[in-house]
Amino acid sequence: MTAYFITGAGTDVGKTFVACGLIRALKARAIKPVASGFDAENPAASDPGQLLAAMGRPLTPDEIAAVCPWRFAAALSPDMAAACEGKAIDFNAVVEFSRHTHPGETLLVEGVGGVMVPLDHRHTTLDWMVALGFPVILVGGSYLGAMSHTLSAFEVLRSRGLKIAALVTSESPDSTVSLEETARSIGKFTHPLAPVTMPRDPALQEATFERLVHVLAG
Ligand SMILES: Nc1ncnc2c1ncn2[C@@H]1O[C@H](COP(=O)(O)OP(=O)(O)O)[C@@H](O)[C@H]1O
Ligand SMILES: [Mg+2]
Repeated sequence: MTAYFITGAGTDVGKTFVACGLIRALKARAIKPVASGFDAENPAASDPGQLLAAMGRPLTPDEIAAVCPWRFAAALSPDMAAACEGKAIDFNAVVEFSRHTHPGETLLVEGVGGVMVPLDHRHTTLDWMVALGFPVILVGGSYLGAMSHTLSAFEVLRSRGLKIAALVTSESPDSTVSLEETARSIGKFTHPLAPVTMPRDPALQEATFERLVHVLAG
C-alpha cells in the first residue's frame, strides 16, 4: 500500500483540489478525517462531498461518515469547532482511523487547515502527521506572502523528520504575483524538491497532475 498525507501552508490553498486530481490520476481512495465548517445542508460542497464525487461514490450520510467521521459545523479550528458542540477530538482515534489502509490501494489523507492547526489541547495537525509517518504532499498558494508560508511549513515538516514527497504551488485567485516566478523562488530553498505549479487554467491541469504523479513516483 501507498499513502500520502496532504497538508497545506494554510487553509483554502488547494488541498482538496489536489486530492481530487490525485484520486483520478492514481485511482486513489481519499479520506478527510476531520472537517470544520461542515454544512450538513450542503454536503456536496464540503471536502468529503468533493472527495466522494471524485471517487465516484454516492453522497449518502453513511459515505460521508466513512470518509469524514469528525465533522463540525463551526468554521473554526477543529479544537474550537468541537468545543462549540461540547465535544473534544480524540487524537488517538483520529490517528487510528487515518492509518487504516487496504492492501494494494493508494490512500490520500487530507489534513485540515495548515501544518499546525490545533486538534485538541495537546496535539496539532503536525503531531497527526508525525504519528502516521506518511510522506507528505505540501500545498501552498501563489498569493503575496505565500512564499514565507510555504517555506515555513516546509521547514517545520522537515524539522520533525517527515518526508516531503511533493510540493505544490497552486495558483491563488486574483494573485498579483506570477505563479511560475513564485514557484521558482520557493524552489531555490527546497532543493532538490522543485514545486509543481498548478495553474487555474483547466486546459493545463491534466499535464499538471501528470507532473505531480511523476514527482510522487520519485
Ligand atoms: N490550482 C487550482 N485550480 C483551480 N481551482 C483551484 C486550484 N487550487 C484551488 N482551487 C479552488 O480554490 C478553492 C479552495 O481550494 P481547496 O482545494 O478547497 O482548498 P483547501 O482544501 O486547501 O482548503 C476551491 O474552490 C478549489 O477548487
Ligand atoms: Mg480542503
